[in-house]
Amino acid sequence: MLFLYLYVTFLLSLLVSANVEKTIFIAPSAVSPDPALGDLGLERLTPANGMLRTRLNASFLTEVGIRGTDSWYLLENLNPGQRYEVRICWLATQPTAFTLSTYTVPELLEDRALLDSISSYSSAAAIPGRQGGNSDADSVLFLRISAAADYFSLDQDLMENVPPVLADIILDPFLSNVFPKSLVPTAAWIGVVSLLAITIARWVAREFASVVNLAGVAEQPDGKKVR
Ligand SMILES: *[C@@H]1O[C@H](CO)[C@@H](O)[C@H](O)[C@H]1NC(C)=O
Repeated sequence: MLFLYLYVTFLLSLLVSANVEKTIFIAPSAVSPDPALGDLGLERLTPANGMLRTRLNASFLTEVGIRGTDSWYLLENLNPGQRYEVRICWLATQPTAFTLSTYTVPELLEDRALLDSISSYSSAAAIPGRQGGNSDADSVLFLRISAAADYFSLDQDLMENVPPVLADIILDPFLSNVFPKSLVPTAAWIGVVSLLAITIARWVAREFASVVNLAGVAEQPDGKKVR
């Protein structure tokens, strides 16, 4: 019974995580804004404002080496040297393969393909009137999310036009660089359940032992051994 319960809990946790993809990184040191990048008008995530609900364009994989449609976000006001994770969570009803990558400003400036990808995203998605962040040095990273449609449908329209995927993007700092902050309640819950499980298991074992002992005593007069 207990094992069944633990097993089901384990299976459920697998099911839940099936729709989460994430990347873990250490925040880089602060750099001054690079004029070469200009104002890309990307949506931003900061530790103080770390959740974004959005729709991401996705596409089927057509070329080898292409991971679907890219969307770009800016992670800023990071604490240099601290560990963070970015998670993306989406509905099982929209089967999608996501790939998350983060790039520092110098990494981005060095790579023509990344620059092309970010500027075409920026021109398709730029949010008018968005201010170009602060002009002080800051620890920033560019986040690329590649979305590839991961389904087959007899509906021709669905195969030709992949609907945008509704998703939550979450920037989560690690506590003491060890544990994601937003998972603390989950961990506490797992701790309580484990303690309870151990207590119940001990109780069951004790009860079982005393039943066996009683049975042993009862069988004694016949001289039969009970294991
Ligand atoms: C997403 O796809 C729609 C429809 O194809 C297009 O109009 C829009 O510009 C795309 N957005 C981005 C950011 O590429």
